[in-house]
Amino acid sequence: MDKNTDFNDMTARKILCIGAGYVGGPTMAVIAHQCPDCRVTVVDVNAERISAWNSETLPVYEPGLDAVVRAARGRNLFFSTDIAGGIRANDIIFVSVNTPTKTFGAGAGMAADLQYWEKTAREILEYAESPKIVIEKSTLPVKTALAMERILNSRGGDVRFDVLSNPEFLAEGTAIRDLENPDRVLIGSRETAAGLAARRVLEDIYARWVPRERILTSNIWSAELSKLVSNAFLAQRISSINAVSALCEKTEANVTEVARAVGMDGRIGPKFLNASIGFGGSCFKKDILNLVYLCRTYGLDDVAAYWEGVVAINEYQKERFVLNMMAAMFNSLAGKRIALYGFAFKADTGDTRESPAIFVAERLLAERAEVVITDPQALPNARIWAQGLTDRGAGSLFETGAGPKIAFVEDPAAAAAGCHALAVMTEWPLYRGLDYERIFRTMIQPAFLFDGRNVLDHERLHAIGFNVYPIGRPPLTHF
Ligand code: NAD
Ligand code: UGA
Repeated sequence: MDKNTDFNDMTARKILCIGAGYVGGPTMAVIAHQCPDCRVTVVDVNAERISAWNSETLPVYEPGLDAVVRAARGRNLFFSTDIAGGIRANDIIFVSVNTPTKTFGAGAGMAADLQYWEKTAREILEYAESPKIVIEKSTLPVKTALAMERILNSRGGDVRFDVLSNPEFLAEGTAIRDLENPDRVLIGSRETAAGLAARRVLEDIYARWVPRERILTSNIWSAELSKLVSNAFLAQRISSINAVSALCEKTEANVTEVARAVGMDGRIGPKFLNASIGFGGSCFKKDILNLVYLCRTYGLDDVAAYWEGVVAINEYQKERFVLNMMAAMFNSLAGKRIALYGFAFKADTGDTRESPAIFVAERLLAERAEVVITDPQALPNARIWAQGLTDRGAGSLFETGAGPKIAFVEDPAAAAAGCHALAVMTEWPLYRGLDYERIFRTMIQPAFLFDGRNVLDHERLHAIGFNVYPIGRPPLTHF
Protein backbone atom coordinates (compact mmCIF):
# COMPACT_ATOMS: atom_id res chain seq x y z
CA MET A 1 0.00 0.00 0.00
CA ASP A 2 1.29 3.46 -0.68
CA LYS A 3 1.38 6.53 1.48
CA ASN A 4 -1.99 7.76 0.25
CA THR A 5 -4.04 4.65 0.79
CA ASP A 6 -7.58 5.61 1.65
CA PHE A 7 -8.70 3.91 4.84
CA ASN A 8 -12.29 4.39 3.73
CA ASP A 9 -11.73 1.64 1.17
CA MET A 10 -11.75 -0.86 3.99
CA THR A 11 -14.96 -2.11 5.47
CA ALA A 12 -14.04 -5.06 7.66
CA ARG A 13 -11.47 -3.55 9.98
CA LYS A 14 -8.35 -5.19 11.28
CA ILE A 15 -7.76 -3.78 14.72
CA LEU A 16 -4.82 -4.22 17.09
CA CYS A 17 -4.55 -3.10 20.68
CA ILE A 18 -1.13 -2.91 22.32
CA GLY A 19 -1.62 -3.39 26.08
CA ALA A 20 -3.94 -6.07 27.48
CA GLY A 21 -4.69 -4.47 30.85
CA TYR A 22 -7.80 -3.21 32.60
CA VAL A 23 -8.55 -0.96 29.62
CA GLY A 24 -7.16 -2.82 26.59
CA GLY A 25 -8.80 -6.18 27.37
CA PRO A 26 -12.38 -5.07 28.14
CA THR A 27 -12.40 -2.30 25.50
CA MET A 28 -11.33 -4.61 22.71
CA ALA A 29 -13.66 -7.37 23.89
CA VAL A 30 -16.60 -4.99 23.54
CA ILE A 31 -15.47 -3.74 20.11
CA ALA A 32 -15.12 -7.36 18.91
CA HIS A 33 -18.49 -8.27 20.39
CA GLN A 34 -20.25 -5.29 18.80
CA CYS A 35 -18.47 -5.55 15.44
CA PRO A 36 -18.40 -9.24 14.48
CA ASP A 37 -16.96 -8.41 11.05
CA CYS A 38 -13.90 -6.73 12.56
CA ARG A 39 -10.93 -8.81 13.57
CA VAL A 40 -9.54 -7.62 16.89
CA THR A 41 -6.18 -8.70 18.31
CA VAL A 42 -4.84 -7.67 21.71
CA VAL A 43 -1.10 -8.00 22.33
CA ASP A 44 1.03 -7.55 25.41
CA VAL A 45 4.63 -8.05 26.49
CA ASN A 46 3.32 -9.86 29.56
CA ALA A 47 2.95 -13.50 28.44
CA GLU A 48 1.29 -14.52 31.69
CA ARG A 49 -1.42 -11.91 31.21
CA ILE A 50 -2.02 -13.04 27.63
CA SER A 51 -2.36 -16.66 28.65
CA ALA A 52 -4.84 -15.61 31.34
CA TRP A 53 -6.88 -13.77 28.68
CA ASN A 54 -6.85 -17.04 26.71
CA SER A 55 -7.93 -19.09 29.73
CA GLU A 56 -11.13 -19.58 31.73
CA THR A 57 -9.82 -17.26 34.49
CA LEU A 58 -9.45 -13.81 32.98
CA PRO A 59 -6.76 -11.55 34.49
CA VAL A 60 -9.32 -8.84 35.28
CA TYR A 61 -12.50 -9.21 37.32
CA GLU A 62 -15.29 -7.16 35.76
CA PRO A 63 -19.01 -7.96 35.94
CA GLY A 64 -20.15 -9.06 32.46
CA LEU A 65 -16.64 -9.39 31.02
CA ASP A 66 -16.55 -13.20 30.94
CA ALA A 67 -19.65 -13.41 28.76
CA VAL A 68 -18.41 -10.81 26.27
CA VAL A 69 -14.99 -12.45 25.97
CA ARG A 70 -16.48 -15.92 25.67
CA ALA A 71 -18.76 -14.79 22.84
CA ALA A 72 -15.99 -13.22 20.75
CA ARG A 73 -12.75 -15.02 21.65
CA GLY A 74 -11.48 -17.29 18.88
CA ARG A 75 -14.09 -15.85 16.50
CA ASN A 76 -12.89 -12.28 15.96
CA LEU A 77 -11.07 -11.58 19.24
CA PHE A 78 -7.55 -12.87 19.77
CA PHE A 79 -4.94 -12.42 22.50
CA SER A 80 -1.29 -12.82 21.59
CA THR A 81 2.28 -11.90 22.49
CA ASP A 82 3.25 -11.41 18.84
CA ILE A 83 3.54 -7.64 18.84
CA ALA A 84 5.54 -7.38 15.61
CA GLY A 85 3.14 -9.67 13.73
CA GLY A 86 0.19 -7.72 15.14
CA ILE A 87 1.59 -4.42 13.94
CA ARG A 88 2.26 -5.81 10.47
CA ALA A 89 -1.16 -7.41 10.07
CA ASN A 90 -3.47 -4.66 11.35
CA ASP A 91 -4.47 -1.22 10.08
CA ILE A 92 -5.90 0.37 13.20
CA ILE A 93 -3.70 0.29 16.29
CA PHE A 94 -4.96 1.28 19.72
CA VAL A 95 -2.22 1.88 22.27
CA SER A 96 -3.38 1.15 25.79
CA VAL A 97 -0.17 0.65 27.71
CA ASN A 98 0.30 1.89 31.26
CA THR A 99 1.34 5.50 31.85
CA PRO A 100 2.17 5.53 35.58
CA THR A 101 3.57 8.41 37.58
CA LYS A 102 7.30 8.81 37.05
CA THR A 103 9.33 7.60 40.01
CA PHE A 104 12.73 8.94 39.00
CA GLY A 105 14.48 11.98 37.55
CA ALA A 106 12.80 15.22 36.49
CA GLY A 107 9.12 15.30 37.42
CA ALA A 108 9.46 12.28 39.74
CA GLY A 109 6.23 11.77 41.70
CA MET A 110 4.22 13.97 39.32
CA ALA A 111 4.83 13.65 35.61
CA ALA A 112 3.63 10.68 33.54
CA ASP A 113 6.25 8.04 32.84
CA LEU A 114 6.04 7.76 29.05
CA GLN A 115 8.70 5.11 28.52
CA TYR A 116 6.21 2.30 27.77
CA TRP A 117 4.31 4.63 25.51
CA GLU A 118 7.40 5.66 23.55
CA LYS A 119 8.52 2.06 23.21
CA THR A 120 5.27 1.18 21.44
CA ALA A 121 5.70 4.14 19.09
CA ARG A 122 9.14 2.86 18.14
CA GLU A 123 7.82 -0.68 17.70
CA ILE A 124 5.04 0.51 15.42
CA LEU A 125 7.59 2.39 13.34
CA GLU A 126 9.88 -0.63 13.19
CA TYR A 127 7.31 -3.19 12.07
CA ALA A 128 4.75 -1.19 10.06
CA GLU A 129 4.78 -1.97 6.36
CA SER A 130 1.46 -0.32 5.48
CA PRO A 131 -0.49 2.80 6.60
CA LYS A 132 -1.73 2.80 10.16
CA ILE A 133 -4.18 4.77 12.23
CA VAL A 134 -2.55 4.94 15.66
CA ILE A 135 -4.96 5.69 18.49
CA GLU A 136 -4.00 6.98 21.91
CA LYS A 137 -6.22 5.03 24.29
CA SER A 138 -3.94 5.47 27.30
CA THR A 139 -4.30 8.65 29.34
CA LEU A 140 -1.53 11.01 28.31
CA PRO A 141 -0.31 14.55 28.88
CA VAL A 142 -1.67 17.04 26.37
CA LYS A 143 0.65 17.29 23.35
CA THR A 144 1.80 13.66 23.51
CA ALA A 145 0.41 13.07 20.03
CA LEU A 146 3.05 15.46 18.74
CA ALA A 147 5.80 13.24 20.16
CA MET A 148 4.06 10.17 18.72
CA GLU A 149 3.88 11.80 15.27
CA ARG A 150 7.51 12.85 15.41
CA ILE A 151 8.69 9.35 16.27
CA LEU A 152 6.48 7.74 13.64
CA ASN A 153 7.63 10.15 10.95
CA SER A 154 11.27 10.12 12.00
CA ARG A 155 12.34 7.79 9.22
CA GLY A 156 10.63 9.80 6.52
CA GLY A 157 9.58 6.50 4.88
CA ASP A 158 6.57 6.03 2.68
CA VAL A 159 4.30 4.53 5.34
CA ARG A 160 1.63 6.99 6.44
CA PHE A 161 0.61 7.28 10.08
CA ASP A 162 -2.39 9.18 11.40
CA VAL A 163 -2.52 9.71 15.14
CA LEU A 164 -5.86 10.05 16.96
CA SER A 165 -6.70 10.61 20.60
CA ASN A 166 -9.57 8.47 21.89
CA PRO A 167 -9.31 8.56 25.68
CA GLU A 168 -11.18 5.94 27.66
CA PHE A 169 -13.71 6.98 30.30
CA LEU A 170 -14.72 3.56 31.66
CA ALA A 171 -14.72 3.05 35.41
CA GLU A 172 -13.63 -0.26 36.86
CA GLY A 173 -16.45 -2.39 38.19
CA THR A 174 -18.81 -0.99 35.54
CA ALA A 175 -16.45 -1.27 32.55
CA ILE A 176 -18.71 -3.37 30.35
CA ARG A 177 -21.78 -1.22 31.03
CA ASP A 178 -19.72 1.93 30.42
CA LEU A 179 -18.29 0.57 27.17
CA GLU A 180 -21.61 -0.70 25.85
CA ASN A 181 -23.50 2.44 26.80
CA PRO A 182 -21.03 5.29 27.17
CA ASP A 183 -22.01 8.86 28.13
CA ARG A 184 -19.78 9.89 25.28
CA VAL A 185 -16.97 8.68 23.07
CA LEU A 186 -14.36 11.33 22.39
CA ILE A 187 -12.23 11.30 19.26
CA GLY A 188 -9.63 13.98 18.67
CA SER A 189 -7.67 14.37 15.48
CA ARG A 190 -5.56 16.78 13.51
CA GLU A 191 -7.94 18.97 11.55
CA THR A 192 -6.30 18.14 8.21
CA ALA A 193 -7.94 16.14 5.43
CA ALA A 194 -5.98 13.04 6.49
CA GLY A 195 -6.68 13.59 10.18
CA LEU A 196 -10.40 14.05 9.57
CA ALA A 197 -10.52 10.94 7.36
CA ALA A 198 -8.86 8.86 10.10
CA ARG A 199 -11.30 10.30 12.64
CA ARG A 200 -14.23 9.17 10.45
CA VAL A 201 -12.89 5.62 10.35
CA LEU A 202 -12.94 5.43 14.15
CA GLU A 203 -16.29 7.23 14.38
CA ASP A 204 -17.78 4.59 12.08
CA ILE A 205 -16.52 1.78 14.29
CA TYR A 206 -18.12 3.24 17.43
CA ALA A 207 -21.28 4.17 15.53
CA ARG A 208 -22.06 0.47 15.19
CA TRP A 209 -23.44 0.63 18.75
CA VAL A 210 -23.04 4.16 20.12
CA PRO A 211 -25.61 6.77 18.98
CA ARG A 212 -23.92 9.35 16.73
CA GLU A 213 -24.88 12.24 19.00
CA ARG A 214 -22.77 10.70 21.76
CA ILE A 215 -19.68 10.50 19.55
CA LEU A 216 -17.89 13.76 20.17
CA THR A 217 -15.09 14.97 17.95
CA SER A 218 -12.55 17.65 18.70
CA ASN A 219 -9.07 18.76 17.94
CA ILE A 220 -6.46 16.34 19.19
CA TRP A 221 -5.15 18.51 22.04
CA SER A 222 -8.66 19.09 23.43
CA ALA A 223 -9.24 15.33 23.47
CA GLU A 224 -6.00 14.66 25.31
CA LEU A 225 -6.66 17.40 27.85
CA SER A 226 -10.35 16.51 28.34
CA LYS A 227 -9.40 13.13 29.76
CA LEU A 228 -7.14 14.60 32.45
CA VAL A 229 -9.70 17.29 33.24
CA SER A 230 -12.58 14.78 33.50
CA ASN A 231 -10.70 12.77 36.09
CA ALA A 232 -9.67 15.94 37.92
CA PHE A 233 -13.32 17.12 38.10
CA LEU A 234 -14.55 13.73 39.34
CA ALA A 235 -11.86 13.55 42.02
CA GLN A 236 -12.49 17.18 42.94
CA ARG A 237 -16.09 16.36 43.85
CA ILE A 238 -14.97 13.56 46.14
CA SER A 239 -12.36 15.78 47.81
CA SER A 240 -14.96 18.54 48.19
CA ILE A 241 -17.42 16.29 50.01
CA ASN A 242 -14.62 14.65 52.02
CA ALA A 243 -13.42 18.08 53.16
CA VAL A 244 -16.99 18.82 54.23
CA SER A 245 -17.14 15.47 56.08
CA ALA A 246 -14.41 16.68 58.45
CA LEU A 247 -16.46 19.77 59.26
CA CYS A 248 -19.60 17.64 59.75
CA GLU A 249 -17.80 15.54 62.34
CA LYS A 250 -17.03 18.71 64.31
CA THR A 251 -20.51 20.18 64.06
CA GLU A 252 -22.92 17.23 64.24
CA ALA A 253 -24.10 17.89 60.71
CA ASN A 254 -24.57 14.69 58.68
CA VAL A 255 -22.54 14.60 55.46
CA THR A 256 -25.06 12.34 53.71
CA GLU A 257 -27.82 14.85 54.40
CA VAL A 258 -25.60 17.72 53.26
CA ALA A 259 -24.65 15.87 50.06
CA ARG A 260 -28.32 15.15 49.33
CA ALA A 261 -29.27 18.78 49.82
CA VAL A 262 -26.37 20.08 47.75
CA GLY A 263 -26.71 17.46 44.99
CA MET A 264 -30.40 18.20 44.39
CA ASP A 265 -29.38 21.50 42.85
CA GLY A 266 -29.58 20.59 39.17
CA ARG A 267 -26.46 22.65 38.52
CA ILE A 268 -24.49 20.43 40.88
CA GLY A 269 -26.08 16.98 40.54
CA PRO A 270 -26.07 14.04 42.97
CA LYS A 271 -23.30 11.82 41.61
CA PHE A 272 -19.81 11.43 43.07
CA LEU A 273 -20.76 13.04 46.35
CA ASN A 274 -20.33 9.98 48.56
CA ALA A 275 -18.00 10.90 51.39
CA SER A 276 -15.45 8.15 51.90
CA ILE A 277 -12.13 7.20 53.31
CA GLY A 278 -10.67 8.77 50.15
CA PHE A 279 -10.54 7.96 46.48
CA GLY A 280 -8.22 5.25 45.20
CA GLY A 281 -7.61 3.59 41.86
CA SER A 282 -4.78 3.73 39.42
CA CYS A 283 -5.77 6.97 37.75
CA PHE A 284 -7.22 9.84 39.81
CA LYS A 285 -4.08 10.69 41.73
CA LYS A 286 -1.73 10.02 38.83
CA ASP A 287 -3.81 12.04 36.36
CA ILE A 288 -4.25 15.03 38.67
CA LEU A 289 -0.54 15.07 39.46
CA ASN A 290 0.12 14.89 35.75
CA LEU A 291 -2.19 17.90 35.26
CA VAL A 292 -0.40 19.74 38.07
CA TYR A 293 2.95 19.01 36.46
CA LEU A 294 1.71 20.23 33.08
CA CYS A 295 0.45 23.47 34.63
CA ARG A 296 3.80 24.04 36.31
CA THR A 297 5.62 23.31 33.07
CA TYR A 298 3.61 26.08 31.43
CA GLY A 299 4.31 28.45 34.34
CA LEU A 300 0.75 28.26 35.69
CA ASP A 301 1.68 27.81 39.34
CA ASP A 302 -1.65 29.04 40.76
CA VAL A 303 -3.60 26.64 38.58
CA ALA A 304 -1.24 23.85 39.61
CA ALA A 305 -1.76 24.65 43.31
CA TYR A 306 -5.55 24.62 42.86
CA TRP A 307 -5.58 21.05 41.49
CA GLU A 308 -2.90 19.86 43.87
CA GLY A 309 -5.34 20.65 46.67
CA VAL A 310 -7.63 17.86 45.47
CA VAL A 311 -4.88 15.30 46.09
CA ALA A 312 -3.85 16.94 49.36
CA ILE A 313 -7.39 16.62 50.76
CA ASN A 314 -7.45 12.97 49.73
CA GLU A 315 -4.25 12.29 51.66
CA TYR A 316 -5.66 14.24 54.59
CA GLN A 317 -8.85 12.17 54.54
CA LYS A 318 -7.00 8.85 54.65
CA GLU A 319 -4.73 10.03 57.45
CA ARG A 320 -7.69 11.49 59.35
CA PHE A 321 -9.42 8.11 59.20
CA VAL A 322 -6.47 6.35 60.84
CA LEU A 323 -6.07 9.08 63.46
CA ASN A 324 -9.80 8.82 64.28
CA MET A 325 -9.38 5.08 64.75
CA MET A 326 -6.47 5.66 67.10
CA ALA A 327 -8.26 8.32 69.12
CA ALA A 328 -11.37 6.14 69.46
CA MET A 329 -9.37 3.09 70.53
CA PHE A 330 -7.73 4.82 73.49
CA ASN A 331 -4.73 6.12 71.53
CA SER A 332 -3.05 2.76 71.24
CA LEU A 333 -3.29 0.20 68.46
CA ALA A 334 -0.24 -1.89 69.33
CA GLY A 335 -1.16 -5.55 69.56
CA LYS A 336 -4.78 -4.87 68.62
CA ARG A 337 -6.37 -6.92 65.88
CA ILE A 338 -8.31 -5.06 63.23
CA ALA A 339 -10.33 -6.59 60.39
CA LEU A 340 -10.35 -4.66 57.13
CA TYR A 341 -13.57 -5.27 55.24
CA GLY A 342 -12.50 -4.89 51.64
CA PHE A 343 -9.12 -4.27 50.10
CA ALA A 344 -10.12 -3.29 46.53
CA PHE A 345 -10.19 0.45 45.77
CA LYS A 346 -13.93 0.19 45.06
CA ALA A 347 -16.58 -2.52 44.82
CA ASP A 348 -16.90 -4.91 41.86
CA THR A 349 -13.20 -5.05 41.12
CA GLY A 350 -10.22 -7.00 42.38
CA ASP A 351 -7.96 -4.04 41.61
CA THR A 352 -6.08 -2.65 44.61
CA ARG A 353 -3.97 0.00 42.89
CA GLU A 354 -3.81 3.09 45.15
CA SER A 355 -6.49 1.53 47.31
CA PRO A 356 -7.07 3.54 50.50
CA ALA A 357 -7.04 0.14 52.24
CA ILE A 358 -3.32 -0.10 51.50
CA PHE A 359 -2.71 3.24 53.18
CA VAL A 360 -4.77 2.24 56.22
CA ALA A 361 -3.20 -1.22 56.49
CA GLU A 362 0.33 0.18 56.34
CA ARG A 363 -0.44 2.84 58.94
CA LEU A 364 -2.04 0.26 61.23
CA LEU A 365 0.96 -2.04 60.87
CA ALA A 366 3.25 0.89 61.65
CA GLU A 367 1.26 1.28 64.88
CA ARG A 368 1.98 -2.44 65.49
CA ALA A 369 -1.62 -3.49 65.07
CA GLU A 370 -2.44 -6.86 63.52
CA VAL A 371 -4.46 -6.69 60.33
CA VAL A 372 -6.93 -9.26 59.03
CA ILE A 373 -7.87 -8.68 55.40
CA THR A 374 -11.00 -9.95 53.72
CA ASP A 375 -12.30 -9.15 50.24
CA PRO A 376 -14.40 -11.17 47.78
CA GLN A 377 -12.13 -10.41 44.80
CA ALA A 378 -8.97 -8.65 45.89
CA LEU A 379 -7.20 -11.21 48.10
CA PRO A 380 -4.73 -12.22 45.35
CA ASN A 381 -3.67 -8.58 44.93
CA ALA A 382 -3.66 -8.08 48.72
CA ARG A 383 -1.23 -11.00 49.01
CA ILE A 384 1.00 -9.44 46.35
CA TRP A 385 0.97 -6.18 48.32
CA ALA A 386 1.93 -8.00 51.55
CA GLN A 387 4.72 -9.83 49.76
CA GLY A 388 5.95 -6.48 48.42
CA LEU A 389 6.12 -5.11 51.97
CA THR A 390 8.29 -8.02 53.02
CA ASP A 391 10.46 -7.63 49.94
CA ARG A 392 10.90 -3.94 50.69
CA GLY A 393 12.48 -4.97 53.98
CA ALA A 394 9.52 -4.22 56.23
CA GLY A 395 10.53 -7.29 58.24
CA SER A 396 8.53 -10.45 58.43
CA LEU A 397 5.04 -9.12 58.76
CA PHE A 398 3.53 -12.54 58.70
CA GLU A 399 4.93 -14.32 61.70
CA THR A 400 5.76 -12.93 65.11
CA GLY A 401 5.79 -14.51 68.52
CA ALA A 402 2.29 -13.12 69.02
CA GLY A 403 0.90 -14.62 65.82
CA PRO A 404 0.46 -13.39 62.28
CA LYS A 405 0.42 -9.62 61.80
CA ILE A 406 -1.33 -9.88 58.44
CA ALA A 407 -3.89 -12.56 57.86
CA PHE A 408 -6.10 -13.19 54.84
CA VAL A 409 -9.53 -14.63 55.50
CA GLU A 410 -12.18 -15.16 52.85
CA ASP A 411 -15.21 -15.22 55.12
CA PRO A 412 -15.85 -11.74 56.58
CA ALA A 413 -17.52 -13.12 59.71
CA ALA A 414 -14.52 -15.35 60.40
CA ALA A 415 -12.20 -12.39 59.71
CA ALA A 416 -13.80 -10.41 62.53
CA ALA A 417 -13.50 -13.15 65.17
CA GLY A 418 -11.11 -12.13 67.92
CA CYS A 419 -10.75 -8.60 66.55
CA HIS A 420 -10.94 -5.34 68.49
CA ALA A 421 -12.31 -3.45 65.48
CA LEU A 422 -13.80 -3.73 62.01
CA ALA A 423 -13.05 -1.10 59.38
CA VAL A 424 -15.01 -0.99 56.13
CA MET A 425 -12.64 -0.10 53.31
CA THR A 426 -14.67 -1.11 50.26
CA GLU A 427 -18.42 -0.74 49.66
CA TRP A 428 -19.05 -4.40 48.71
CA PRO A 429 -22.83 -4.95 49.05
CA LEU A 430 -22.21 -8.26 50.86
CA TYR A 431 -21.03 -6.35 53.94
CA ARG A 432 -24.54 -4.98 54.39
CA GLY A 433 -26.12 -8.41 54.78
CA LEU A 434 -23.87 -10.00 57.41
CA ASP A 435 -25.07 -11.29 60.78
CA TYR A 436 -23.54 -8.52 62.88
CA GLU A 437 -25.10 -9.79 66.11
CA ARG A 438 -23.11 -12.98 65.76
CA ILE A 439 -20.00 -11.09 64.60
CA PHE A 440 -20.25 -8.77 67.61
CA ARG A 441 -20.28 -11.72 69.99
CA THR A 442 -17.02 -13.10 68.52
CA MET A 443 -15.15 -9.80 68.90
CA ILE A 444 -13.10 -8.40 71.76
CA GLN A 445 -15.06 -5.84 73.79
CA PRO A 446 -15.55 -2.95 73.59
CA ALA A 447 -15.96 -3.61 69.85
CA PHE A 448 -15.38 -0.78 67.38
CA LEU A 449 -16.69 -0.36 63.86
CA PHE A 450 -15.26 2.27 61.50
CA ASP A 451 -17.33 2.63 58.35
CA GLY A 452 -15.04 4.21 55.77
CA ARG A 453 -17.81 4.04 53.17
CA ASN A 454 -20.94 4.86 55.19
CA VAL A 455 -22.62 1.74 53.84
CA LEU A 456 -23.76 -0.02 57.01
CA ASP A 457 -26.82 0.56 59.18
CA HIS A 458 -25.16 2.53 61.95
CA GLU A 459 -28.13 2.78 64.31
CA ARG A 460 -28.68 -0.98 64.18
CA LEU A 461 -25.02 -1.72 64.76
CA HIS A 462 -25.00 0.66 67.70
CA ALA A 463 -28.05 -1.08 69.12
CA ILE A 464 -26.20 -4.42 68.82
CA GLY A 465 -23.42 -2.97 70.96
CA PHE A 466 -20.78 -1.66 68.54
CA ASN A 467 -19.14 1.73 69.00
CA VAL A 468 -19.76 3.05 65.50
CA TYR A 469 -17.65 5.68 63.74
CA PRO A 470 -19.03 6.72 60.34
CA ILE A 471 -17.51 9.32 58.00
CA GLY A 472 -18.94 12.82 58.38
CA ARG A 473 -21.56 11.90 60.97
CA PRO A 474 -21.47 11.91 64.74
CA PRO A 475 -20.12 8.65 66.22
CA LEU A 476 -22.57 6.36 68.02
CA THR A 477 -20.79 5.13 71.15
CA HIS A 478 -21.59 3.48 74.46
CA PHE A 479 -19.12 5.55 76.48
P1 NAD B 1 -2.55 -1.91 32.96
O1 NAD B 1 -1.27 -1.76 33.68
O2 NAD B 1 -3.63 -2.78 33.51
O3 NAD B 1 -2.25 -2.47 31.47
C1 NAD B 1 -1.24 -1.98 30.65
C2 NAD B 1 -0.65 -3.17 29.89
O4 NAD B 1 0.28 -2.67 28.91
C3 NAD B 1 0.13 -4.14 30.77
O5 NAD B 1 -0.42 -5.44 30.65
C4 NAD B 1 1.57 -4.08 30.21
O6 NAD B 1 2.25 -5.32 30.24
C5 NAD B 1 1.31 -3.62 28.79
N1 NAD B 1 2.48 -3.01 28.14
C6 NAD B 1 3.33 -2.07 28.64
N2 NAD B 1 4.26 -1.76 27.72
C7 NAD B 1 4.01 -2.53 26.63
C8 NAD B 1 4.61 -2.65 25.34
N3 NAD B 1 5.68 -1.91 24.99
N4 NAD B 1 4.10 -3.52 24.45
C9 NAD B 1 3.02 -4.28 24.80
N5 NAD B 1 2.39 -4.20 25.99
C10 NAD B 1 2.88 -3.33 26.89
O7 NAD B 1 -3.10 -0.44 32.71
P2 NAD B 1 -4.63 0.01 32.50
O8 NAD B 1 -5.31 0.15 33.80
O9 NAD B 1 -5.23 -0.84 31.43
O10 NAD B 1 -4.40 1.48 31.94
C11 NAD B 1 -3.88 1.71 30.66
C12 NAD B 1 -4.04 3.17 30.32
O11 NAD B 1 -5.43 3.50 30.30
C13 NAD B 1 -3.41 4.14 31.33
O12 NAD B 1 -2.92 5.25 30.62
C14 NAD B 1 -4.58 4.56 32.20
O13 NAD B 1 -4.40 5.85 32.73
C15 NAD B 1 -5.72 4.58 31.20
N6 NAD B 1 -7.04 4.35 31.78
C16 NAD B 1 -7.25 3.41 32.73
C17 NAD B 1 -8.52 3.17 33.23
C18 NAD B 1 -8.79 2.14 34.29
O14 NAD B 1 -9.92 2.08 34.77
N7 NAD B 1 -7.84 1.31 34.66
C19 NAD B 1 -9.60 3.89 32.71
C20 NAD B 1 -9.37 4.84 31.71
C21 NAD B 1 -8.09 5.05 31.25
C1 UGA C 1 -12.33 6.71 37.23
C2 UGA C 1 -13.35 7.49 36.41
O1 UGA C 1 -14.64 7.38 37.04
C3 UGA C 1 -13.41 6.97 34.99
O2 UGA C 1 -14.30 7.79 34.23
C4 UGA C 1 -12.02 7.00 34.38
O3 UGA C 1 -12.03 6.46 33.08
C5 UGA C 1 -11.07 6.20 35.25
O4 UGA C 1 -11.07 6.75 36.58
C6 UGA C 1 -9.66 6.24 34.78
O5 UGA C 1 -9.26 7.13 34.07
O6 UGA C 1 -8.96 5.32 35.23
P1 UGA C 1 -12.29 4.38 38.50
O7 UGA C 1 -11.08 4.92 39.15
O8 UGA C 1 -12.21 3.03 37.89
O9 UGA C 1 -12.78 5.37 37.33
O10 UGA C 1 -13.50 4.34 39.55
P2 UGA C 1 -14.45 5.49 40.19
O11 UGA C 1 -15.82 4.95 40.22
O12 UGA C 1 -14.25 6.79 39.55
O13 UGA C 1 -13.92 5.54 41.68
C7 UGA C 1 -12.64 6.08 41.99
C8 UGA C 1 -12.49 6.16 43.50
O14 UGA C 1 -13.32 7.17 44.05
C9 UGA C 1 -12.86 4.87 44.22
O15 UGA C 1 -11.95 4.64 45.27
C10 UGA C 1 -14.25 5.16 44.76
O16 UGA C 1 -14.58 4.39 45.87
C11 UGA C 1 -14.10 6.63 45.10
N1 UGA C 1 -15.39 7.37 45.16
C12 UGA C 1 -16.18 7.45 44.07
C13 UGA C 1 -15.75 8.02 46.35
O17 UGA C 1 -15.01 7.95 47.35
N2 UGA C 1 -16.92 8.70 46.38
C14 UGA C 1 -17.74 8.82 45.31
O18 UGA C 1 -18.79 9.49 45.41
C15 UGA C 1 -17.36 8.18 44.12
